[in-house]
Amino acid sequence: MAEHAIAAEGPRELPAKFSLPLVGDTLSFVRDPAGFLEKRAHELGPVFRISVFGKPTACFVGAEAFSILLDDGNVGRAGANPPHVEELFNPEAVPFLDGEAHRRRKRLLMQAFTPEALQGYLPILAQVIDRYATKWAKLGTFSWVPELNSMGFAIAAALFVGADPSKDDPRIESDFGAFADGLLSLPIRLPGTKFSRALEARNQLHLRIERALDEHTDRPSSNVLSRLFAARDGAEKLSRDELRIETFHFFGAYAAVIGGLSFLASCLGRDRKVMGGAREEVLREIPAGEPDLAAIRRLGYLDRVCKESRRVAPVLPITFFGKVKRDCHFHGIRIPAGHQAVGCIGATLVDEDTYPDAGRFNPDRWLHASDEQKRAWIPHGGGIHTEGHRCAGEALATLMLQMFAVRMLRRYDWTFPEGQDFSPTKGKIFATPVGDLRVRISLLAS
Ligand code: HEM
Repeated sequence: MAEHAIAAEGPRELPAKFSLPLVGDTLSFVRDPAGFLEKRAHELGPVFRISVFGKPTACFVGAEAFSILLDDGNVGRAGANPPHVEELFNPEAVPFLDGEAHRRRKRLLMQAFTPEALQGYLPILAQVIDRYATKWAKLGTFSWVPELNSMGFAIAAALFVGADPSKDDPRIESDFGAFADGLLSLPIRLPGTKFSRALEARNQLHLRIERALDEHTDRPSSNVLSRLFAARDGAEKLSRDELRIETFHFFGAYAAVIGGLSFLASCLGRDRKVMGGAREEVLREIPAGEPDLAAIRRLGYLDRVCKESRRVAPVLPITFFGKVKRDCHFHGIRIPAGHQAVGCIGATLVDEDTYPDAGRFNPDRWLHASDEQKRAWIPHGGGIHTEGHRCAGEALATLMLQMFAVRMLRRYDWTFPEGQDFSPTKGKIFATPVGDLRVRISLLAS
């Protein structure tokens, strides 16, 4: 697939801008990956070349260009990511696997995200969200992002390592903060550098996960770890090493949920009409009691709201890196074998040609979306979950956003003081609103 016509005079080279020898575009990329790639896409089109982490890198923007990247005959993952990223996650983690090894691992992991599994996680989500919301309504004006971060990691700790959902585990939260900072750092192994702190944090988290694996054998329960223990594919199951590697990666991946929650809260709070429509639907469909998965999935308007908030405010700028395995062509442009390859998620989601008035939060655009718009909705990567590298946790992330919105809309209102910056942070791999979302939350009159 994705072999596009080559002009009679032969293929053109990937368009690129001048970049410095050795350093290339790495500094601009690390400073603001989303902004840098959007600018280049605007200047150079849907496929172009940059130079990052010492390698020429083919960048892909939009559904059509993405189809080249998603074909594993064109692009592989093994050894393709910057060594410091592989080291932080583990070179054997699922984003870096290819072929049957990847499919086997993915089939096993996806068993933690079936509808039945998700239904079992709802009580944990409900308990932690309610605990935090009760506290928030008493705080007056406060910064919501750090609170959402604590809430998110309390849920992650309960789901992934069986922590008690009635308590917080600030150590896990701060270790993951240090780990995430390391992903966009320069890999300098000196005491006190971001990279060294990320490695230390990773080692602490490994110890915590090892403990959970030991404890788990005695006390299985309804969380993600139990599902991973129980996952079977014929005679295949996840080894202890695989459980540790993937649980760690789940925590890392989970950081994106915090961005997703904060932009959803921001979009709703700033658009009273959408907030009113979503609240009206929630109160009509689930007036009281604990919603089950089926009830949450019937909330069509809320689904469009959550989908649109992930489009208009992309949390992650890029996919993981791949490596081009064979020469590919896109509208007469040659993408050479050997180049690093990356999907530009942010630039695709806010592309004006695909989504007119792309900067506007408009959930109704999904009522009559074209096939191209649907295919370009790639906040979780593109393609098919079980066959490619599309996010394994997408259904859990979606449920997190929906459950958070249901519980907040049913009981609370929130408003943002004037004069704050709602735009996404620039130098972090997982974006959140720059102003940390100063908010005031109040109980709705019953
Ligand atoms: C709003 C929240 C989230 C966003 C925006 C997000 C986004 C992404 C993206 C962009 C990728 C990379 C796709 C690629 O490289 O082609 C990815 C991969 C992945 N994500 Fe997520 N993710 C989220 C939440 C989660 C959660 C909660 C989990 C697990 C509990 C998770 C687990 C994974 C895994 C395991 C992969 C690697 C899949 C593979 O390589 O086959 N993600 N995610």
